[in-house]
Amino acid sequence: MRLNAQQLRQFEDEGWLFFPEVFSAEEVAVLRDEAETLYRTDRKEIWREKSGAPRTAFAAHTYNEAFRLLGAHPRLISPVEQVFGDRLYMHQYKINAKAAFDGDVWQWHQDYGTWQRDDGMPEPRAMNIAVYLDEVMAINGPLMLVPRSHKHGVFAAGHDLATTSYPLWTLDHETVTRLVHEGGIVSPIGEPGGVLMFHGNLVHGSAGNITPYPRKIVYLTLNAVANHIRTPTRPEWIAHQDFTPIDPVADDALLAYARRFRAAAE
Ligand code: SIN
Ligand code: MN
Repeated sequence: MRLNAQQLRQFEDEGWLFFPEVFSAEEVAVLRDEAETLYRTDRKEIWREKSGAPRTAFAAHTYNEAFRLLGAHPRLISPVEQVFGDRLYMHQYKINAKAAFDGDVWQWHQDYGTWQRDDGMPEPRAMNIAVYLDEVMAINGPLMLVPRSHKHGVFAAGHDLATTSYPLWTLDHETVTRLVHEGGIVSPIGEPGGVLMFHGNLVHGSAGNITPYPRKIVYLTLNAVANHIRTPTRPEWIAHQDFTPIDPVADDALLAYARRFRAAAE
């Protein structure tokens, strides 16, 4: 997947891009099945909401083959390499559940604020690229982005250790209000298989999910190798310390895996 000049300009101006139908229904189905199986397992990388529902599975590319293939997929790696002009390594990998009825809020924040403060990442040269595993609807807690909010650097933030089960550096209401007056709010909705990429300084968050529709999204955080983290404070499985550049797999590797998986199940 190569970005054209108009897409590169839109990314620079608005801080995000959405691509529908990057992965086929067959490719996404296997990832969805595997995510649901993972959420039922008990391991330290799987964090739960205060209700006990799954919130996020960290580092699944290190212990699950389908997610390993996704984490090195050329449709995700090449556009981010193109933007940064560098090889990439995986800084963080998470499968966010936003579970039906129980999926909790993510307060307004900038991801680079955390990567800088907690991990010692020198520059905002890491990117989130997200793959929708379920349909992301207006009603099931879609990600909300504040366009153009990536142009102001890192804002002051407070460390929220209480609201949800996950510590987050969150922005105050006055800052969010000002940015929203300037840029508005968008929530890119789409079918499973859609891909969203957004700048590390883009302000974003999501509301809780009280619908019967889960909203699983996989987030790869790809960092330019030269921008590797310097002073990690979080566990290795949250902020990785293996800075080896990712060699992309073949474009059909996930599809081939899906077919083997289905054949074995039949
Ligand atoms: C995040 O900001 O890292 C996740 C937000 C979400 O999945 O809704
Ligand atoms: Mn975030």
